[in-house]
Amino acid sequence: MQFELTEEQQMLRQTVREFVETEVAPVVEEYERESKFPAEVVMRLWKELGLGGMCCPEEFGGISLDPVSYTLVIEELARVWPSLSIIVSVHNAVGVQLIVDHGTDSQRQKYLPDLTKNRVAAFSLSEAGAGSDVAAIRSTAVLEGDHYVCNGEKNWVTNGANAGLYIIFLKTDPDAGNKGLSAFILEQGTPGLAVGRPERKMGIKASEAVVLSLEDCRIPVENRLGEEGQGFKIAMQELDSGRIGVGAQAVGIAEAALARAIGYTKEREAFGKPINEFQAIQWMLADMATRLEAARLMVYRAAWMKQQGQKFSRQASMAKLFASETATFVTHRALQIHGGYGYTEDYQVERFYRDARVTEIYEGTSEIQRLVISRAWLREHGFEM
Ligand code: CAA
Repeated sequence: MQFELTEEQQMLRQTVREFVETEVAPVVEEYERESKFPAEVVMRLWKELGLGGMCCPEEFGGISLDPVSYTLVIEELARVWPSLSIIVSVHNAVGVQLIVDHGTDSQRQKYLPDLTKNRVAAFSLSEAGAGSDVAAIRSTAVLEGDHYVCNGEKNWVTNGANAGLYIIFLKTDPDAGNKGLSAFILEQGTPGLAVGRPERKMGIKASEAVVLSLEDCRIPVENRLGEEGQGFKIAMQELDSGRIGVGAQAVGIAEAALARAIGYTKEREAFGKPINEFQAIQWMLADMATRLEAARLMVYRAAWMKQQGQKFSRQASMAKLFASETATFVTHRALQIHGGYGYTEDYQVERFYRDARVTEIYEGTSEIQRLVISRAWLREHGFEM
């Protein structure tokens, strides 16, 4: 058993940490306050660090990081800016990687070199009435000649108006349940595609989530990913990787909140001594640190299993479930330790507290993770599911 990161992984983590602490941290509050997508920052990550191609082979312009390295990067981004970490995670794990895994050679040649350097990808699965229940998607794609004519409305599309292309899931056979779903590459600017106003969210405000409306929007047949009817499995397979990314984001958020809490307990005095001399505070810090360490190990292990080519769906769900609930727990305690000051916008724990919450919701709610885990566990123990 090996618990140490390799030298390359440590160097990568250090490089990303230095970049975000010096180049990115100073602008975070401004973008968050204005709920503004950080397009310039994202392009610097792509062009200066190659982070637009983390899950892409070098022959298509990527830097092909191993999955553990990938989680280290997402964690480092989240320590400073959770919004940025989900922008990067969605682009890589359920955007670029989906084309790598399911695209034809000509789709890879056409889209990946540009996507890894100059554009942002988005993943459009959910609808107003289909979030957890993916098979309930109603938006349709009807084949007419060499195009699919697409109609409907998609919700919660992360990277929103700033995406250069959307991986979109539509019903090609509305009567076939989950086997009636197909995946497509939809380019920004395609006639019939309208991008709505960003949602006004509780947290991760610089990460846009929009509604996409399709009105007789024509997607060429050559932009279909995989075969007709394979969309559900494609989405599920890629969400397994996406969930490792959200787990890493949650670990980064918890790490940031714990560090701020520890710093505050050294400075703040009550009853004539620093508050870290009180057992009530020490025990809170102990619980926060223990859960954080467990969450990090689970996220790294799920990534390691993916790296080994093993099945990792259950482990990704467990890691996402535990890490996201840990982020909520740790940010809650960090805010409590700051007392009234934690409740103000002057201290960043308030932002991390709000940002943590969504990690229990997107890329599969905690309830969905429990469903995936219990089904897989029962199957592994010989029960028919
Ligand atoms: N990999 C590959 N195949 C899979 C799979 C996986 N991880 N999970 C299921 N499948 C296959 C099954 O083997 C099954 O195949 P067969 O029909 O051939 O047997 C098929 O898919 C159907 O599986 P289920 O019967 O388990 O399907 P279900 O309808 O019961 O749904 C679910 C399962 C777990 C509830 C699933 O729908 C799910 O994960 N829902 C949550 C979706 C989600 O995460 N949504 C949010 C994502 S988008 C987002 O968050 C926005 C963003 O950009 C951040």
